[in-house]
Amino acid sequence: MNDEIVSIDKFNLWYGNDHTLCDVSMPIYKNKITAIIGPSGCGKSTLLRSINRINDMISTCRTQGDIIFHGKNINKCKNTVQLRKRIGMVFQKPCPFPMSIRENVVYGPKMHGITDHKELDRIVKESLEQAALWDEVNDDLNRSALSLSGGQQQRLCIARSLSISPEIVLMDEPTSALDPISSKKIEYLMNDLKDKYTIIIVTHNMQQALRISDYTAFMYLGKLIEFGDTKSMFEHPVQTITAEYLAGKFG
Ligand SMILES: Nc1ncnc2c1ncn2[C@@H]1O[C@H](COP(=O)(O)OP(=O)(O)O)[C@@H](O)[C@H]1O
Ligand SMILES: [Mg+2]
Repeated sequence: MNDEIVSIDKFNLWYGNDHTLCDVSMPIYKNKITAIIGPSGCGKSTLLRSINRINDMISTCRTQGDIIFHGKNINKCKNTVQLRKRIGMVFQKPCPFPMSIRENVVYGPKMHGITDHKELDRIVKESLEQAALWDEVNDDLNRSALSLSGGQQQRLCIARSLSISPEIVLMDEPTSALDPISSKKIEYLMNDLKDKYTIIIVTHNMQQALRISDYTAFMYLGKLIEFGDTKSMFEHPVQTITAEYLAGKFG
């Protein structure tokens, strides 16, 4: 039996008068990778950002419906700092802070009150190892994060998101700005991360969704068209429009 860590139930979102997400309902299973796919503009990022309430920063944004996480409605959560500690995020463009590698990783833990040097060192090593970056950078953790390659920077951003021990990591097209070798590294590491974390990834790359995810949600024009086990969906999509999208008939 799969454990449902998040339950999205009839979730709606408007930007001003635009009804951008319409009655989206789907489960997110614990320690699995869920891919959200669909053509550009269908609401993938909006749905992802709703899960840790990053959309709050958009003044025209209004929501209705439930996103239940440990029995509580994320949509009504008052302490978003605490929420984002438990639900971290990695963005499309690698965005390390203009500081050293080490400072990037300890930034979050320090903000949450960890000051002990030994503990911070442990977190740095563990997070960088989990992000498959430790071997490449441990000889000089004081060098600027901006001196890393794009792929390394993105793995540093993953390490940064893991440093505060989240339960869920949201990833919005984390490999789309990277070269194929860096993308592969991130795909491999995501598979290892599943043991400890629940991952939700937005990707416009259907083959990537098929390679890495356990479950797939196909969205179209703000609606969830189909959700299911990835292999089954790719082999036997239920809806005609899902089949057409997966066959590359529209993009
Ligand atoms: N901050 C915003 N303000 C107004 N409209 C937005 C905003 N962000 C996204 N949108 C609109 O919402 C729709 C869904 O966007 P988005 O979630 O980014 O789609 P996707 O990630 O699937 O490409 C699009 O029509 C987009 O133009
Ligand atoms: Mg997007």
